[in-house]
Parts: sequence; structure tokens; C-alpha cells
Amino acid sequence: MMVLALCATLINTASYQEAETRARQIVQAIAPSEQLRLLHGFLALPFQGRAIPTGAIGSAGYVEGIPRLSVPALQETDAILGVANPSNVRPGDVATAMPSGLSLASTWDSEIAYRDGALVGDEARRKGFNVLLGPGVNLARDPRNGRNFEYLGEDPLLAGTLAGYAVCGIQDQHVVATVKHFAMNDQETARFNVSAEVSESAMRESDLLAFELAVEQGRPGAVMCAYNQVNGVYSCESSHLLSEVLKSDWGFSGWVMSDWGAVHSARAAMNGLDQESAAQLDGLLFDEPLAAAIASGAIPEPTVRNMNQRILRSMITVGLLDHAATPSPIDYAAHAQTALEEAQRGIVLLKNDGLLPIAPSIKRIAVIGGHADIGVISGGGSSQVVPVGGSALLEPSSRNESAFSGYELYDPSAPLGAIRALAPHVLATFADGRDRKAAVALAQRADIAIVFATQWMTEGADASDLALPDGQDALISAVAQANPRTVVVLETGNPVLMPWLPQVSAVLEAWYPGQKGGEAIASVLFGKSDATGRLPITFPASDDRAAPPAPNIVRYTEGSDVGYRRYVKQGLKPLFAFGHGLSYTTFAYSDPRLTGGDTMRATFTVTNTGSRSGTDTPQLYLTRKAGEVQMRLLGWSQVTLAPGASRRLSVIVDPRLLAEYDSQLHAWNLVSGQYEAALGEASDDLEYRASTSIVGRTLKP
Ligand code: BGC
Repeated sequence: MMVLALCATLINTASYQEAETRARQIVQAIAPSEQLRLLHGFLALPFQGRAIPTGAIGSAGYVEGIPRLSVPALQETDAILGVANPSNVRPGDVATAMPSGLSLASTWDSEIAYRDGALVGDEARRKGFNVLLGPGVNLARDPRNGRNFEYLGEDPLLAGTLAGYAVCGIQDQHVVATVKHFAMNDQETARFNVSAEVSESAMRESDLLAFELAVEQGRPGAVMCAYNQVNGVYSCESSHLLSEVLKSDWGFSGWVMSDWGAVHSARAAMNGLDQESAAQLDGLLFDEPLAAAIASGAIPEPTVRNMNQRILRSMITVGLLDHAATPSPIDYAAHAQTALEEAQRGIVLLKNDGLLPIAPSIKRIAVIGGHADIGVISGGGSSQVVPVGGSALLEPSSRNESAFSGYELYDPSAPLGAIRALAPHVLATFADGRDRKAAVALAQRADIAIVFATQWMTEGADASDLALPDGQDALISAVAQANPRTVVVLETGNPVLMPWLPQVSAVLEAWYPGQKGGEAIASVLFGKSDATGRLPITFPASDDRAAPPAPNIVRYTEGSDVGYRRYVKQGLKPLFAFGHGLSYTTFAYSDPRLTGGDTMRATFTVTNTGSRSGTDTPQLYLTRKAGEVQMRLLGWSQVTLAPGASRRLSVIVDPRLLAEYDSQLHAWNLVSGQYEAALGEASDDLEYRASTSIVGRTLKP
């Protein structure tokens, strides 16, 4: 609640009205020669032999201001995993490398999302930026998507809620947040052209719902439209998506900027695009071609005024005109602590036969693979951060299909060093895993073995399958055969298959854990912190999507049944289900009460039945509706309890989650009837199924 109140200071009605009036005054004062100034930006990187634009700091993007009217330039930077420094355009500049989006989503913690946004917003502002090109909220429809690591998982409620809080955190620093990539940008293969084919109702109940919640809860100043087409229309030219859904149905009052190189014609201005980003990439369409379209009357003046009004209103609401982003020192030490806490909270304990937390009696640990002696891996593409302390390792990737650097960057937080620091009584020895025999020999001599396995994902390329690359499965298997007391620590950008799972004692999913990843992993391994993460994405048991990501058209035949919803409907068993994650203690639920009426409310008691303090994330799911199997996350709560302690918690359901979107009605259709819900620790671990009656009605989108 506290964080929402903070966010609300930016979006109360009075300040909105004031911003509206101020923006209108500026728009009225804009001279004809200035009216396109805010409507197109430039790549703020050296491009085709040209230096970066004058006035730009150097980053992904720059939009000239109108100094005569005290309108500052927009200095735009990627993004939510930390302030990027593409091509080292700001020589030597570093930033706190935050854990990946999937790590953040694994915390299921809105306050952490807020703090993450606030940290990155603070660093952006102190480097002189006033627009952050994130967060991304595309749903993980395909576990091979190269950018899933940047996003917040497969569920619209979880992703949209966390994105909304991250937006609040960013904008409380007087930096505009940009929710992206709108919409259905769910694969990287052929991302510039591929058309996502999906019905209106399926979109509204899935990917669009994530955006809707993020926009509603965070009130971002900007939304970025995507590269791909949706049902045959480019996202940045889709009047349906931009004008009807985003601006009209959801009342989005900010501006729509394009993705970099995603505009195909000046006509996009008629369909709801307000600003062309990095215009050099498209041929400067919102410059002379737009001017010509205005002059010919093809694009009316009021449309152009509205585009300016939207940009200025957001700038004023977020405080860009009154709180200039001026360079100032950054408290990297404090930020490292936040990065550490977030990474700890995002680590998911997938399997544990009791070996973890590592007991004080363990004296010899074999640490193997994953460059665990050097650092932790990060993801590639525009979100790549050069961490404080510099990259620990830049290794050419065996998977260099993307347009981006092709180098795997390791953040300087070595798990081996962190293990040694946390457990000085332990003899921790390292083998890099390249020599399998040496790794096996080391494991044989140790009390336990910990194998670190990495999977590099990058913007611009999808994984071809779900296997760990570079023979790591065989390495894990060989080590586990030599010493069954083997723990696997995964640093991956997506779910992976685990053919060796029955052979090992424990598995931790640490994702890309960022600046303090090594310390976070060590802390969970030794039980200094509880294992608190819960999966925001299903781990498939096999590569069950037959076709590789499609180059021209991708048909999302699962409709709104993304991830776990499809698994449950089709009776498939995942390797690890959405919502799964073990703790070092145990919890029990009791005295559940489910009530209906206008919506569903659940109250229940959680008790820590184990012997250590721990954090639980009880989840409420819709399981049946009108007698049919249905599966939707309806809400969750989170509580940290001492052993033996109990707390009464409640979840109030957003009625849209109980409804179907009806495209004929142009509304959510909530049908009267019996709705069955269940409480549980994961989408496949449910108890207390109960039904309640809901009063039907239609709800405005
Ligand atoms: C990405 C965006 C990013 C932009 C600027 C694009 O290639 O899709 O997510 O914000 O570049 O770097």
C-alpha cells in the first residue's frame, strides 16, 4: 500500500489537470517550424559515419527540445535491467546491473518491483536521462523467445502488476517510463515483419491485459509500439491497437513512441503513433514526409497538436519540466544492496531432497562450470548493462545469430568467491568443466558438488530448442554420477530441459542475477536467506511446440491459454509448474473462506509449520467456470513468518479475471454462475477447491 501511495502523488487528478493546461499553453505557443520537433527522435549513437546528434548524451535515443519554450530534450535510455551504455558510447560509463525481468517476476513482490524501478530511474536521472525505455511486459508465449529474460513471465496479472509498480518507481524519480513492446511481440525470429495471428478476445485476455494493468496501475508517460504485425497490420500503424484499445478503451493519456526502426509510413500518425524514435532508421518519416502530409491536409492539424499535447502532458506530469535531469553522483553501494536483495528474492528452489541449505558439516565443495570463478552471466541486446566494476568476462557466444554483439557478458560477482566468503571453513575448489574428467575427479573428492550451468539469450534471436547449450547436460550428468550429492545452479534466460533431474539432489534457478548474483546464490545455498522465488513461467517437460518460431506468420492457437493455462486445459504435465518454488520451511493453509457476489474474495490463514523463518506466496486460481476446466491466476499474497507463526490473508479478485472478453459486445462479459477456485503453493499444487456464485454483468474495457 505504501508504494501505491507514493505513485499516486504523480497521478492525482489535480496535477493531471494542471499538466493538461500547461501542455495546452505550450502547444499553442509552438511555432509551425517547431511542430515536428518533439514528434521524431534520433539514434543517439554514431550512425553511418555520423557523430551523435548535438545535445545528446549518447544512448539509444534523443529528441530535441524546444528551449524557447523551456521544453527540455528527451534523453532516452534502455532500460529496466539498468542504464545501458550501447557500444560504449559514454566511454567507461557503468551502471548497477539489476537481475533479469524473470528474476524480478519470480519475487512476486510489488514493492521490489517499485524499488527496482526507482533504482534504475534514479541512476538514469543522475546520468542526465529523463526517459527510460522500459519496462517490457510481453508475455512468455514461447519458452524459446530470446527476450523473455527482459520480461515478466507468462501471466498477465503477475506481469502487469509488477510492471505497473516498476513504472511508479521510475516515474517517482521524474523519469518517464515506457511500457513496451505493444503488442504481441512474443518472438524474436523475423521480429521486424512477422505477423502474430490471434483473436481479439484472446489478446484482450492475455497480452493486452498485461499492458492494460500496467497502464492502469502505473500510468506510464509513454508506450512503445512493437516491430511486428498483429493480424497483418504493423503494430506502430495499428489504429485498432493504438487509438481504439490503448487510447480510447484504456484512456491512456501519454504518448506512443515507435520501436527503433518500426515505422513504415508517415500515415502512422493518423493511426495513433505520436513519435517516431531513431528516425534515421526509418528514413525520417515524421520529418519532411509528415510535414508534406500535413500540408496536403492528409494529416489534420488537430492530430499534430494532439501528438504534441500527449508528449508534453506526460513530460509535465512526470516532472521533466520542473526537475531537470542533471548529472550527479550515484550511490552505487546502496544500489548494490538493493540488487542483492532482489536477486536473493528471485532465486527459485526447484528441487531439494534435503541437501540444501548446505549444512555446517560440509567441508569440501567442488564448484564446477559456468565461469563461477569469474562472475554470473547476463542477457544480450539493447537491455545489456555494463556493470559497476566492468564486465568480468566477455566471451564470444557459440550462438551468434543476432544483430547484437554476440558476446556473453559476465557480471563481476563470482559465486566461487561468494561461497568462500560466506563459508570460510569450507574448502571450495573449482573446475571449469571443459575437462569433464577433471570435473568428475573433483566431484568425487568433495562432500558435495555444485554445477553452474548457463544459457545465454539475446534480443534478436530465439533459442532453437530448450536444451542447455555446449554439452552442459552431459557435464551435469557425469558429475552427478560421480557424486549424487550434486546441486545444479541454473543461470538461464528461459526455462530449460533437465534430462539429469532425477540424478541430482537440488536445483536452483538463479536466472541472470545481476550485479550481486554470486553473493545472492551463495546466500540461498547456505540458507542465509530463505528460498523465496516462485516461477513466473512454466518449465516444459519436453520441447512440446513442434514448429520452430515462424518466420512470416505465427498463429497463437493457444489463444489466451498462455503457459500454465494451456498445460492444465490440455492435461499436460510440466517439468515445473508456474508458481512452483520451494522454501526452506513449510507452510500450511487453514480456515479458507470464499465469497462471491460482485467478485470473488478469499481469506485464509497461513502458518509456518517448519523450524525456520520463511516467506510464502499463497496463490489463488480459478479452476472451473460453468462446469468447464478453467485455469487463471486470480491473485496472490505474500508473507514472511517466524516458525509457528500464523497470519490471516485475503485476496480480492479483479472481476476481469473471471470474465471473457466479448469482441461483439466490446466489453468484458462476466456471466452469472458458479465459479470454482482453489488455493495453493503453485498452479499444480492446489487445495481447498470451493465454489461461489458470481453476479454477472458487463464491464467496460
Ligand atoms: C528494442 C527496444 C529498445 C530500442 C532502443 C530496439 O531494438 O526492441 O526494446 O528500447 O531498440 O535500444
